[in-house]
Amino acid sequence: MTDQYLRDITLNFIIAGKDTSANTLAWFFYMLCKHPLVQEKVVKEVREAVGIKESMSADEFSKLMTEEALDKMQYLHASLTETLRLYPAVPLVKYLTIVSPTNINSQTLSSCSSGKIFDNSFSHKHKLSDSK
Ligand code: HEM
Repeated sequence: MTDQYLRDITLNFIIAGKDTSANTLAWFFYMLCKHPLVQEKVVKEVREAVGIKESMSADEFSKLMTEEALDKMQYLHASLTETLRLYPAVPLVKYLTIVSPTNINSQTLSSCSSGKIFDNSFSHKHKLSDSK
């Protein structure tokens, strides 16, 4: 493995992993603020899964955050997944190869174009969870 290869992989991870995770977490906490009951359930589940005690330090807490504990956090998983459904960090339709001129969202794609189409309208939102 060359230094340049290692540099490219590292940069790829930083670029691909930074804004996606940051935006998703921002939406997740926004949704928890809008839905306090869900917030309570998440906190309860994390407390139980980790076996948290009163006056525990952040270091002690992070040591208990094992894969086994994470496996027990199904409600947290569902909440994160729902956040991703409502606010996808990468709302994309995968690679396309157009074999004949095609009209998508008032845009005509000529034949033989290929690439990705990014468009928020592709993510299916229902407004119920945002309405409170
Ligand atoms: C909420 C967080 C994330 C979302 C929604 C997300 C979404 C995606 C999606 C949809 C793709 C496929 C793109 C395509 O098909 O062209 C992708 C690819 C990729 N992601 Fe993420 N990602 C997230 C977090 C991360 C993190 C944390 C890392 C790295 C630390 C990462 C690294 C990558 C890499 C390297 C690829 C390219 C894989 C390949 O070569 O096919 N992503 N991501």
